[in-house]
Amino acid sequence: TIGEVDLDTPLPVPPLAESTVEPDGTRVFSLEPQAGTTEFAPGVASETWGFDGAYLGPTLVAGRGERVRVDVGNRLEVPTTVHWHGMHLPAEMDGGPHQMIAPGDTWSPEWTVDQRAATLWYHPHPHGETEEHVARGLAGLFLVRDDAEGALPLPREYGVDDLPVIVQDAAFTDEGRRETPPQGFAGRLGDELVVNGVRGAYAEVADELVRLRLLNASTARSYAFGWDDGSPIDLIATDGGLLPASVALERVLLSPGERAEVVVRMAPGERRTLQSVMTPAAAGLQPVVAGMNGATDEFDVLELRAADVLDPSPELPERLVELPPIDTDIAVTRTFDLNGFQINGEQMRSDRIDETVTVGTAERWIVSNPSGMPHSFHVHDVQFRVASVDGAPPPPELAGWKDTVYVGPETEYELILRFDDFADPDTPYMYHCHLLWHEDQGMMGQFAVV
Ligand code: C2O
Ligand code: CU
Ligand code: CU
Repeated sequence: TIGEVDLDTPLPVPPLAESTVEPDGTRVFSLEPQAGTTEFAPGVASETWGFDGAYLGPTLVAGRGERVRVDVGNRLEVPTTVHWHGMHLPAEMDGGPHQMIAPGDTWSPEWTVDQRAATLWYHPHPHGETEEHVARGLAGLFLVRDDAEGALPLPREYGVDDLPVIVQDAAFTDEGRRETPPQGFAGRLGDELVVNGVRGAYAEVADELVRLRLLNASTARSYAFGWDDGSPIDLIATDGGLLPASVALERVLLSPGERAEVVVRMAPGERRTLQSVMTPAAAGLQPVVAGMNGATDEFDVLELRAADVLDPSPELPERLVELPPIDTDIAVTRTFDLNGFQINGEQMRSDRIDETVTVGTAERWIVSNPSGMPHSFHVHDVQFRVASVDGAPPPPELAGWKDTVYVGPETEYELILRFDDFADPDTPYMYHCHLLWHEDQGMMGQFAVV
């Protein structure tokens, strides 16, 4: 059954992060991880963490080619980190477990944004505690803009026809105080959704064409997003940017950490609801395993309410961007087996570099899951391409730039990754399962680019 909630809370839009510009052109943002309280039910305070308030964080926006710095001042009582998920940047700026920020300290990574327009995000990455820090509320969006995307007639007025949709699951007491969901094999699965920090969200729109930037910021739960009326959902972008053309899907599958941009054409006065209807088949799971992984759960996510008179929007262009061909000049092939909360039979050790990559080369990573349980695979620093899934060409929704893929049981991905710059033998990047409890258990490894 569909999660029984009234979609009756206006969707809050995370504020755009303020920034200043240094004389040398560097754009400077600041984030302050901090504890606070959030009312998920009127008058009932829950303890939460946020990046500039009590929950979630502001949306950072930067253009391709822009130099950025983020001053991260840790106002929590515990150490944390901030990782720029999906961002191509030097390992020292990555915000993984090697860049811990002590309480009271400020960490100021800086880098030049050099990648395609995309919906990226940021979240803590302290080893062993990532699940808890994210679940408490530490997550935010980082949007990259570029000329290719900017030249297309796509909705991009933030909070108006271009809506961030940060989806998390959570559990609540009867009075509406947030509580810790029970522990299962996948991690902790909440039985309710929180979207941009509220339960039961709706958004009023006044444009014909609306773009939703979906982020699965849940720690363990995967979703299969679609429309309540069964009409296809139009996917235009995946983790690392636009697809060559929009793809009409019945459902968009997002495992933790993945993003998708979808567009929808509204009729005047129309109401439609984005739902997640996960099934064992969609998750590639046996029915008994599906239940314990939330793969039989259905939720209402967000209702869109169109005004009676809508601003006209241009037709969606038939072609969006050109994708370069997938690299075929491969320096090294590596295999990654996801099994038993380990990768290749090893648990993460911060003093061991598992893989050493040569800068300026492309590699083939064969990622497989021989277990009966679902996992995912995320790689820091790069956006990769999927060359094949179980030996077949990828479906169109996996044809673009990705940094995280859902890896169901007995699935094998062939990923092609290019490592063009940022050689640093001393500081590794991470790869890991993005089911955060699995990651915390050590289902993570380290690679250095040299
Ligand atoms: Cu979104 Cu290594 O993480
Ligand atoms: Cu990441
Ligand atoms: Cu996993």
